[in-house]
Amino acid sequence: MTTTVPSATAAHDALIDRLPPDFRFGVATSAFQIEGATAEDGRTPSIWDTFCRVPGAVDNGDDGDIACDHYHRMPEDVALLAALGLDTYRFSVSWSRVQPHGRGPVNPAGIGFYDRLVDELLARGITPWPTLYHWDLPQELQDAGGWPARDTAYRFADYAELVHDRLGDRVEHWTTLNEPFCSAVLGHVEGVHAPGGRSLADGVRAVHHLHLGHGLAVRRLRSAARRPLDLAVTHLLGTSGPATGSPADREAARRADAFGFRFYLDPILRGRYPQDLIDDLVVHGIEIPVQDGDLATIAAPIDTLGVNYYRSMRSSGVDGGGASHDAHGVPITRNLPHGGLPLTGLGWEVMPHDLTELLLRVSRDYPGTPMVITENGAAYDDRPGPDGFVDDTARTAYLAAHLAAVAEARTRGADVRGYLAWSFLDNFEWSYGYAQRFGLVRVDYPTQARIPKRSAHWLRDTAHRVRGAAPRT
Ligand code: FCB
Repeated sequence: MTTTVPSATAAHDALIDRLPPDFRFGVATSAFQIEGATAEDGRTPSIWDTFCRVPGAVDNGDDGDIACDHYHRMPEDVALLAALGLDTYRFSVSWSRVQPHGRGPVNPAGIGFYDRLVDELLARGITPWPTLYHWDLPQELQDAGGWPARDTAYRFADYAELVHDRLGDRVEHWTTLNEPFCSAVLGHVEGVHAPGGRSLADGVRAVHHLHLGHGLAVRRLRSAARRPLDLAVTHLLGTSGPATGSPADREAARRADAFGFRFYLDPILRGRYPQDLIDDLVVHGIEIPVQDGDLATIAAPIDTLGVNYYRSMRSSGVDGGGASHDAHGVPITRNLPHGGLPLTGLGWEVMPHDLTELLLRVSRDYPGTPMVITENGAAYDDRPGPDGFVDDTARTAYLAAHLAAVAEARTRGADVRGYLAWSFLDNFEWSYGYAQRFGLVRVDYPTQARIPKRSAHWLRDTAHRVRGAAPRT
């Protein structure tokens, strides 16, 4: 087992240098992972505050109470973003801060924070790109049924409009949802994310209501807009080929692709759910709770598809003992690693080539929607050297290889317009807590000092080189 990747190569640079000067470069974060200040200025608990209190839910019993203290250090953090020469900052808005009861009036102190953040960014020439929902549902809405309940989609649309009312005069780029797959499946089926549910039926309902909330929000923002908007939704995507050429594995790969990929892109970009997925769910006695008009709402046109990519898996249709069905007659679908590949600190396989394949597939199967990589990055256990510098060569190489993979997809026809690395800062990595560091900037949690790592310098220099003489407009 190896935890390193080859260093950035001349071949990577040659591809990267073919990116156009207006290619977008930035970094991403999310509210719960960096802000802290969870009980300040009227913020109420979100499902992640609650989940962190469940014994064993988060490694080391970590929580988001302080995180990177970004709520109090925002101006300095924006100054650091500017020093890194990045043109775009993707952050998320905490619903519990802005609309503490999940419904009703705006909390002026809560929205005030994002108002100031947007102003700070614009003053430094950085494009603000808010994500309206990055997994932190107000607990009160969870108590009323959460995403498995249809009403949550309408609450989300109201909240989206309320944020847009206050920021829409200055903000052009919006992402509705981050990775509905994780909200729905990790949170409701696998139980490893908030709210910790373990029901496939709830997960399927949650997916549909997340999609519906997205579509309703897109319509509301379009009609409220005082300026042209660039509206996006971000999905976690990967490829899922069969582990072997056996019929059982090929069928498992089809199921994995239906449930993990087409379940997310088909309704948004084609206005329908995949028929094979609908058939697969019948085996579980589950129907997607579609009502009249939902699919047209969900397919409201978007301007950009946000792609988050970390790794890909292979699918097997047999369990460890060779059986192809479980005790209830349900076919086995197992995700397996490829094997023999370099691993990140989280044990995720490093597979930049699959990013190229993925982008080409989206371009082929869902033509006409420009893409931006809204997250890509790696956790490594990097530490400061004796001089205090964090020489994260493995992360730097990871980013270079993946950016080159994006550039290659572009040369082969994929319309990809930007690359936002995950993440600006080391932060609260959900159920892994603070031990897993994804930052291009190290956070020394006891002192809250920010230390840009080699990868931050690399991204700054790369963006600068690609832009050449032409500044972003
Ligand atoms: C993505 C999440 C992001 C972060 C990275 C590592 O799935 O959107 O918040 O946790 O993974």
